[in-house]
Amino acid sequence: MKVNDVVTYAVEGSIAVITVNSPPVNALSNAVRQGVASAVETAIGDPAVGAMVLICEGRTFFAGADITEFGKPPVEPTLRNLQLVVENATKPVIAAIHGTALGGGLELALVAHYRIAVPSAKCGLPEVNLGLLPGAGGTQRLPRIVGVEKALDLMTAGSPVSAKAAKEMGLIDELAIEGQLRADAIALAQRVLDEGRPLLKVRDRTEKLDEARGKPEIFADFRKANARKFRGFNAPEAIIRCVEASLDLPFDEGMTFERQLFNELQADSQSAAQRHVFFAERQAAKVDSLPADTPILPIAKVGVIGAGTMGGGIAMNFANAGIPVTLVETNEDALFRGLRIIRGNYETTAKKGKMKPEDVDTRMGLLTGSIAMEDLADCDLIIEAVFEQIDVKREVFGKLDRIAKPGAILATNTSYLDIDDIAAATSRPDSVVGLHFFSPANVMKLLEVVRTKDTKPEIIATAMKLAKTIGKIGVLVGNGYGFVGNRILAARNTQADQLILEGATPWAVDKVLYDFGFAMGHFQMRDLVGLDVGWNPKTTSSANVREILNEMGRHGQKTKGGFYDYDENRKQTPSPVAMQVIEDFAAKQGMTRRDISDAEIQDRILFAMVNEGARILDEGIASRASDIDIVWITGYGWPKYRGGPMFWADLQGLPTVLDRLKALEAAHGAAFTPSPLIERLVAQRKGFKDA
Ligand code: 3HC
Ligand code: NAI
Repeated sequence: MKVNDVVTYAVEGSIAVITVNSPPVNALSNAVRQGVASAVETAIGDPAVGAMVLICEGRTFFAGADITEFGKPPVEPTLRNLQLVVENATKPVIAAIHGTALGGGLELALVAHYRIAVPSAKCGLPEVNLGLLPGAGGTQRLPRIVGVEKALDLMTAGSPVSAKAAKEMGLIDELAIEGQLRADAIALAQRVLDEGRPLLKVRDRTEKLDEARGKPEIFADFRKANARKFRGFNAPEAIIRCVEASLDLPFDEGMTFERQLFNELQADSQSAAQRHVFFAERQAAKVDSLPADTPILPIAKVGVIGAGTMGGGIAMNFANAGIPVTLVETNEDALFRGLRIIRGNYETTAKKGKMKPEDVDTRMGLLTGSIAMEDLADCDLIIEAVFEQIDVKREVFGKLDRIAKPGAILATNTSYLDIDDIAAATSRPDSVVGLHFFSPANVMKLLEVVRTKDTKPEIIATAMKLAKTIGKIGVLVGNGYGFVGNRILAARNTQADQLILEGATPWAVDKVLYDFGFAMGHFQMRDLVGLDVGWNPKTTSSANVREILNEMGRHGQKTKGGFYDYDENRKQTPSPVAMQVIEDFAAKQGMTRRDISDAEIQDRILFAMVNEGARILDEGIASRASDIDIVWITGYGWPKYRGGPMFWADLQGLPTVLDRLKALEAAHGAAFTPSPLIERLVAQRKGFKDA
């Protein structure tokens, strides 16, 4: 029987089976909640029914509340009211889980009286990733069922656990046989009935709470251990407070407390930012300009040219995904060095317990070293990661053109060079694309996929798909200097360099950015990357502070000195030597240093970045403002809870942004001349989100 468009009701023997089918992920939308509540009530009133099974069709059990309904007026039954119907049902309800039971979906399963899952299922409360807390009783029920410590871990990490782990911690009562969930759930319901098992309610359990009451230090220890990870985010602290409340307050009062904190988080700009990031990530994967039937090319074998900092990391991505790689260097020394570093990285990962020791050899077995480019002849994709010099790259591509098989994708990892120029060294520029990885390439999530004027649609589509295969977030960008990420970084560089000459210290600039939420400050990052990247000792001319520091042998962390000094443990202190260099250079330029406020530092850096982002968008180098946000969050440590530079600008209001830019232009010149796009959007009363 159809209950509504998304819920059906069937009775088998004495078991009612309530089936939900609301693609793509069975989010708990208005229709789903209404349908389930009505079906449960039908089952309660049906004398032929003794127990019921709640199960979903499609790829997953409920993936949570419907995020698209957030901010809209609530429609009955709310999730909490639906939970009351289920929890207080006079007949046992069995939740049957496959796919991912997430957020409100898992919270709904937690009011069922029994839970069964297939081994491949996963359970989690990922609300923290959206700047929220589990708001349908998760913070009160989870500690009661898995204990306070596990509950804190699960809810603040937000990552799901396997069904097996869920069973071990008591979250799941039984594992079903894969592919037989429906039948096994019905069988469990029948057993519950036959054996007269009680209507178990998680809310009534107290034993795990009693255990935690004996360990009052849990919360302080947890806060301390995670201080760095949670810095700046509001949701983790709110979750901890709710779990504290689960010990201190009776269940219903705990629920009220949870509701209050949930509402506060939901109204907060952090959650709006994190929800924006959730959708922006998914949006980034979509390329509107490609026809839906664009073919995806098979990538069974990959070549990487250059086994340096980037080439090694790039190769690891493919080995991790089980794709064989041929790694080419100019000589055996460089090749062995590159391979040794890769092995070392894997061994470190294995030592940390994040990889099985036997997998080190398996992955290394997928890597073949060579000093002959001819060995790349059978590769479907070849990624060049040699020195950042146009002549070297053109030579490599010219040779590659003669070696690579027809149809192969020829990619470059260049940071700044013109990819059309590189492609022109081949007879097949339409097969050339930029794949701009970020350092360390085996870790960083971002992959800028750079299309040139000639890149073929199937190559773009394949590159975007490939990003997902190797666990990256691919963002399609255009071929302009520095693409999206590095071009905005250059705008930040200009301001940061100028500010330290005018009177700010590098540590003051860094503190402003750190306090804003960046993982590290600007000059800390430059020291880490190395001040000598792109510096040529042969042509150096003491033209700026960075060159002078390099000439002094201060290349950053690796030489124990850059803008900061570093001890053996890489602990940094502001360097008086660097400060002297800055002051002397400013004096040489005839500049009189002045006091610069933190507010000015923040404004100049952030508005310069936003303005550059607007120009990038206007020029079509990025196709959406939200793509720029994803680039800066996943590639450069922009705090996720601030949603990226363009979201942040929208939050200030573009009229405010325009006013500030005009004031900064008057004081500091053309870097702040507002992008025409901002002027247009303000005139149209729009934000970047509408651009
Ligand atoms: N609400 C609305 N839409 C959702 C959604 C949700 N909870 N979860 C996913 N979607 C949409 C996505 O936006 C995407 O839409 P699109 O096709 O138009 O781009 C589509 O479903 C498919 O999603 P994915 O591309 O992410 O599909 P995957 O198969 O890769 O992943 C998933 C599936 C693991 C379920 C993943 O989508 C996910 O993690 N979803 C979010 C889960 C979540 O955060 N739940 C908690 C919600 S908050 C909550 O429940 C509050 C409660 O405590 C009161
Ligand atoms: P690197 O200097 O560490 O490595 C380059 C390697 O290429 C060296 O091992 C060199 O021996 C090898 N090589 C040079 N010519 C070669 C040839 N003809 N054939 C085979 N191998 C050759 O440089 P890095 O940092 O790995 O940079 C490589 C590229 O990646 C550059 O284009 C750079 O701009 C880009 N990039 C660098 C990032 C970084 O943070 N280091 C980040 C993103 C991109």
